[in-house]
Amino acid sequence: MTTNPLRDPRDRRLPRVPEPCALVVFGITGDLARKKLLPAVYDLANRGLLPTNFALLGFARRDWDDVDFAELSRSAAQEHARTPWREEVWERLANSVRFIQGSFDDDVAFDELASTLGELEGSHGIGGNAAFYLSIPPSLFPVVLKQMERTGMATSTPERWRRVVVEKPFGTDLPSSRELNQLVDSVFTADDVFRIDHYLGKETVQNLLALRFANTLFEPVWNGAHVDSVQITMAEDVGIGGRAEFYERTGAARDVLQNHLLQLLALTAMEEPVEFSAEEIRTEKLKVLRAISVPKDMARFAVRGQYEQGWLAGQRATGYRQEKGVSEDSTTETYAAVRLGVETRRWAGVPFYLRTGKRLPRRVTEIALSFQRAPHLPFAPTDTEELGHNQLVIRVQPDEGVTLKFGSKVPGSVMEVRDVSMDFLYGEQFTEASPEAYERLLLDVLLGDATLFPRNAEVEASWAVIDPLEEYWADTTPFSYRAGEWGPRAAEEMLASEGRAWRRP
Ligand code: BG6
Repeated sequence: MTTNPLRDPRDRRLPRVPEPCALVVFGITGDLARKKLLPAVYDLANRGLLPTNFALLGFARRDWDDVDFAELSRSAAQEHARTPWREEVWERLANSVRFIQGSFDDDVAFDELASTLGELEGSHGIGGNAAFYLSIPPSLFPVVLKQMERTGMATSTPERWRRVVVEKPFGTDLPSSRELNQLVDSVFTADDVFRIDHYLGKETVQNLLALRFANTLFEPVWNGAHVDSVQITMAEDVGIGGRAEFYERTGAARDVLQNHLLQLLALTAMEEPVEFSAEEIRTEKLKVLRAISVPKDMARFAVRGQYEQGWLAGQRATGYRQEKGVSEDSTTETYAAVRLGVETRRWAGVPFYLRTGKRLPRRVTEIALSFQRAPHLPFAPTDTEELGHNQLVIRVQPDEGVTLKFGSKVPGSVMEVRDVSMDFLYGEQFTEASPEAYERLLLDVLLGDATLFPRNAEVEASWAVIDPLEEYWADTTPFSYRAGEWGPRAAEEMLASEGRAWRRP
């Protein structure tokens, strides 16, 4: 990549295009590749953000050749891409598509992969650079990583970079994540490892940093002196789809609380980074994750649930235990809610309530800061009966935007104060559509920008929060809730016992 010596390296206005390179995807026949990765590759190509010298390689057991793989990629991109279909963009990409057939313990297939990368250097000028995307279960990481080590594919040199992208779950608890991290770090150097948490690729999540650190309005009240409590919600209306096998072993806390929700908490609670760089942002997030305290009274403040048969959007929804592939007496949770603390000067005493669940009434992710009531109200008590807490809500999805809720006088001859909302909606303010999270993250991997990728210490600190919850839950049965309800009653009681209530997003 030629660099302009007169340009400030922090100037990010011009779109950055990666150096010539290849993207190798292991697990190319899986759901993630078809629904997210391949469409993202097409979208990047369509936006002119892939280098001219680029190759896409798929590795899987399937008895395919390059043409079959190109066909799969085409239909995946056509079906799921965000940007309009342009045949000429696809034709250019299709020329650089290669498929390697083999299983992960097959030395010959990996030798072929290594030699294909070598050939592509000559034929497509990829400059020896390659990112390897492990879209495979973690149990297969060791064998794939060993193969990469054996063939020398994992080694970056001054002339070329080699990077690895690891999908969550990064382990199932602290010891296993440590083991996994050690394994990955023994094959790739730490700077070449990109752990994906796709929530960090969401535009609204990045906007949280802009909201907090580019404005003067919010930061002075962003602390325990003004904030009463914080609620972070990730609700889904979908069930577990065809992922029973994975979900039965995983459950809601390991699936999304450990990563997406704790990352949202870290961004909400972190101090201002010295600069907007990978190193500084990750350092600040890590401090928050290390400062999290779990509830002493788990029975009251760590609630998990499992959905029973119910109704959603007028349709009957099966109960979790009746889903295909789920055991009849499964105790896996599909809902988790917990009250966490952040033991820092800024946040001591402020509860952070986190909740997530499947088969809840609607799909919504938001971060809501609820402010303390005014210390004194110079009105008659009846005037402010309808006044709640001031709230700032960052709507991650859908209806991406920010809402400020505050009290206002109701028109008329008496003083009556009621809550009103002021809304900022991405869709109304900007003509640019937001890129998909995977588009942004794939591009960052190829650019070598690790700002939006948690580093291993963050992953481990997050497991240190989850492990005690799992330990407590191991001897309990999840509370039940009907599909289409906002979780079990115990989760409502958890907040009610402190005089609060969950928001109805
Ligand atoms: C994944 C979880 O990480 O995130 C899924 O494994 C969940 O269970 C998904 O459905 C939700 O992602 P999004 O972007 O649709 O909110």
